[in-house]
Amino acid sequence: MMRTTIERMAGAAGREAELCGWVYNKRSSGKIRFLIVRDGTGIMQVVITKPELMETFDRLTQESSLVVSGKVRADSRSPGGFEMEATSLEALQIAGDYPITPKEHGTAFLMENRHLWLRSQKQWAIMRVRAEIIRACRDFLDDNGFLLVDTPIFTPAACEGTTTLFETAYFEDKAYLTQSGQLYNEATAAAFGKVYCFGPTFRAEKSKTRRHLTEFWMIEPEMSFAGLDDAMQLAEDFLYFIVQRVLENRQPELAVLQRDVEKLRRITRPFPRLSYTDAVEILRKEGNEIEWGGDFGSPDETVLSARFDSPVMVHRYPSAVKAFYMKPDPQNPDVALCVDVLAPEGYGEVIGGGQRIDDSELLRSRIAAHQLPEESFRWYVDLRRFGSVPHAGFGMGIERATAWLCGIEHIRETIAFPRTIYRIYP
Ligand code: 4AD
Ligand code: MG
Repeated sequence: MMRTTIERMAGAAGREAELCGWVYNKRSSGKIRFLIVRDGTGIMQVVITKPELMETFDRLTQESSLVVSGKVRADSRSPGGFEMEATSLEALQIAGDYPITPKEHGTAFLMENRHLWLRSQKQWAIMRVRAEIIRACRDFLDDNGFLLVDTPIFTPAACEGTTTLFETAYFEDKAYLTQSGQLYNEATAAAFGKVYCFGPTFRAEKSKTRRHLTEFWMIEPEMSFAGLDDAMQLAEDFLYFIVQRVLENRQPELAVLQRDVEKLRRITRPFPRLSYTDAVEILRKEGNEIEWGGDFGSPDETVLSARFDSPVMVHRYPSAVKAFYMKPDPQNPDVALCVDVLAPEGYGEVIGGGQRIDDSELLRSRIAAHQLPEESFRWYVDLRRFGSVPHAGFGMGIERATAWLCGIEHIRETIAFPRTIYRIYP
């Protein structure tokens, strides 16, 4: 007999098939019993009428594992559009009292049981959107001439500021967990032209917000012979592609999440572009107390993004609030050639990037001014000594993008096992 999955059930319509899964729910109606089975790819109703299967049905508890086979038929009332009429039913393991029941649980309880919570429909939908986003990122970059070159996790120095570094023992020495692959991307971009890296990144974020994790995944393209405008154009095309892919391939998941997909459909190119200076002007008119020179907080980002249906690209922040490697704008050296892309609906910054300093002397003075260890950055300065070129790129946090596209409040549900200042279990 053919074993199939719920996702592929259409291929078994009208025939006998075998399904392996877990009990999501069960109910009876007169002499008929209904099992709602989940198999990881979806959920489906199994109808049981045979008297010899009743004893097994009665023993099955929520999350018990099972193998069922039977005739598959289309049924528009069943989730997924198909149901199975069971001819055999085998329990693999009868689950004990499952802690997560259909009643409401608090977030602390659910987080403590994250290893089980992942089996719930909402979490299923979020993880599947996340995987689609990652696939879209890879497809877009692979198909547009970017070479995947992975960058190290153990690093000798900071990339995004020394206040959020995780230090770890490294034999007789010490090392830091990477905050971003960017500096290494700059080396590989000079070796391979257009590159990207994708991996976990770490920040000792001591603030407890709904947007920050201590371990998150970042995808970072970097281009040689490119400037800020090229990075902005790439960010626009990249994000637009991801949104279209999710709309195309993840409708059932977005429906489970009750995502207002109209808001995603309204996203159009070109994305609005706004200088930091103009953004400050807007914020002050709206009553936010911000002085030119300060970084934006999330209330500022929310006000700015609320003005547009599409992501807004805020460029040219004051150099003083940004990372050491950013190239100053030749028109006004107080601002950097950088961009933050703010997602609509108040989801905040999803992308940060820009053009890098390509002059070795300026770079050395910035490293010194930021009191970074000169020795650890020798290789990085070298890149400006041997065929230096204008180059630019950005990083997108996978979890920020997932929270936005899923329309969920808190970033902790966008990764299977979130790491935050207060959580490292399970
Ligand atoms: O803006 P960030 O700090 O930029 C960089 O790290 C650059 N070196 C990237 C580059 O140019 N190659 O981080 C980039 C993105 C942010 O826009 C956000 O989406 C995400 O990474 N991010 C976080 N996501 C979750 N938790 C955190 N603590 C995050 N910090 C940044
Ligand atoms: Mg940033």
